[in-house]
Amino acid sequence: MTTLLDVRDLTVRFGQTRAVDGISFTLDEGETLGLVGESGCGKSTAALALMGLLEAARLDGSASFGGRDLLALDEARMRSIRGAELAMIFQDPATALHPLIRVGDQVAEVLRTHLGSNRREATARALDLFRKVGIAAPEVRLRAYPHEMSGGMCQRVMIAAAIACSPRLLLADEPTTALDVTVQAQILGLLRDLSREFGMAMILITHDLGVVAGMTDRVAVMYAGRIVEAAPTGALFAAPAHPYTVGLLGSVPRLDAGWDDDLATIPGSVQTAADASGCRFAPRCARASNACRTEPALIPTGEGRAVACWHPA
Ligand SMILES: Nc1ncnc2c1ncn2[C@@H]1O[C@H](COP(=O)(O)OP(=O)(O)OP(=O)(O)O)[C@@H](O)[C@H]1O
Ligand SMILES: [Mg+2]
Repeated sequence: MTTLLDVRDLTVRFGQTRAVDGISFTLDEGETLGLVGESGCGKSTAALALMGLLEAARLDGSASFGGRDLLALDEARMRSIRGAELAMIFQDPATALHPLIRVGDQVAEVLRTHLGSNRREATARALDLFRKVGIAAPEVRLRAYPHEMSGGMCQRVMIAAAIACSPRLLLADEPTTALDVTVQAQILGLLRDLSREFGMAMILITHDLGVVAGMTDRVAVMYAGRIVEAAPTGALFAAPAHPYTVGLLGSVPRLDAGWDDDLATIPGSVQTAADASGCRFAPRCARASNACRTEPALIPTGEGRAVACWHPA
């Protein structure tokens, strides 16, 4: 397998706050990586940093994508990659779609910018994409404004825009959280088909461990700005090593209880990077000892796994 993305020591600072604190991971072509962790742990920030969309932040580290460092590119070169080779489905569709532009034109614009399509070609292709993402009556919907469409439909439009140029990597940030369960399943199925069809790699950010289990090849678990565990998906679910991961999996709701986004059933709350010394999970961890006053590094433990813990399970 060829490495598509190689992120090393990515750190994102907003003022004094380190929202992402030295994360490293790689992604192979066509691979799907799940990025999980509690609200505020830095998942969206990491994705937005890779997209070059964080103006107010200070970035350190590197992110090699097809041989170029995404963190070092100037805005003009970033703009030529963004949307074409690297695309993102944003957590909040309302902010991602322009409210005053017809949705068909928004998708067509991506095609005109990156593929140099003329208006007629771009509209025809947008229509194809709308069909592909399961938008009913696509000819009519092309001319709709975002407020005339449901949340699920807006989400599909965003997906259509994101996949318009067959990106090599799609960053999907909670792509289905706002949607009802039936639509969620449809959208996830669609993303999986697209990744298979185009060999598109994906970073799937989600609170939903059921989604992680069904969709991803590997998982990186984040806690307070750091990756605390990374493993192939099956291995992680079978035998979580980090106490935080153990807690996360322990708080997966039973199927008969229905889905629930809330992972915060582990006692305590997330300590921020600013006031941390040592392991950030230690204040909530039943296994914590004196050793945990020193921050554990993410150490490979074999078979594609790594864990940052002095007392792994
Ligand atoms: N523009 C910003 N300015 C200052 N702080 C920010 C900014 N964006 C994010 N943060 C902070 O960075 C941290 C990580 O936020 P982020 O949105 O990446 O978390 P997340 O893991 O995506 O959470 P969620 O699951 O709720 O989407 C939070 O503490 C947040 O308050
Ligand atoms: Mg987020």
